[in-house]
Amino acid sequence: MIIAIDGPAASGKGTLARRIAAHYGLHHLDTGLLYRAVAKAVLDAGYPADDVARASAAAAAIDPEKFDENALKAHAVSEASSVVAAIPQVRKALLDYQRAFAARPPGAVLDGRDIGTVIAPGADVKLFVTASPQIRAARRVAELKARGVAADERDVLADLLRRDERDSARAAAPLKPAPDAHLLDTTLLDIDAAFRAAVAIIEAARTGRKRG
Ligand code: CDP
Repeated sequence: MIIAIDGPAASGKGTLARRIAAHYGLHHLDTGLLYRAVAKAVLDAGYPADDVARASAAAAAIDPEKFDENALKAHAVSEASSVVAAIPQVRKALLDYQRAFAARPPGAVLDGRDIGTVIAPGADVKLFVTASPQIRAARRVAELKARGVAADERDVLADLLRRDERDSARAAAPLKPAPDAHLLDTTLLDIDAAFRAAVAIIEAARTGRKRG
């Protein structure tokens, strides 16, 4: 079974994807980490994130086994990750890894921006997870705080909106729901309620498929 979870920045996709993967015994891939790793490699080498040649080379060379998730989740990497993510060559270099990951038995949950539209268009279930910008900013601040990082909610909100705009407006695999995605608005849901709602959607989709 392959489950695709897409949505805007800090919508709760990652937490949800992890819980769903554990629940169904599937592998989980946070595809945002791939773009973050490319961005960090380019910045660490002293180049701007929009350097196409450097970013493409970094994408071809990344090793997900060696990811330091804490460093990749750092606020400074976020902005640059959406810049490298708009480069078609970067997306192309990361495609095979994601498809191969999804194909590993017994299946996987992948979360990102283009999973249901580009990476796994044939996924068994597609969720598009949203929440209001204010709620997303508040959640991201709490997440950063839990990692020991102080952050101003207005700055975080501005960053999220800027990235959403860039991710939605780009020509290469823009952020948008697949036509057959189930929309899940978590603005008024805590993580347990969001998880239950997601499982209900997945179960209904599986039952529908079996009947169909
Ligand atoms: O955790 P958050 O939602 O803030 O971001 P993320 O999922 O780690 O993704 C970071 C950035 O990578 C996004 O703003 C996108 O620009 C890019 N991304 C993408 O283009 N396609 C994906 N499948 C996943 C992430």
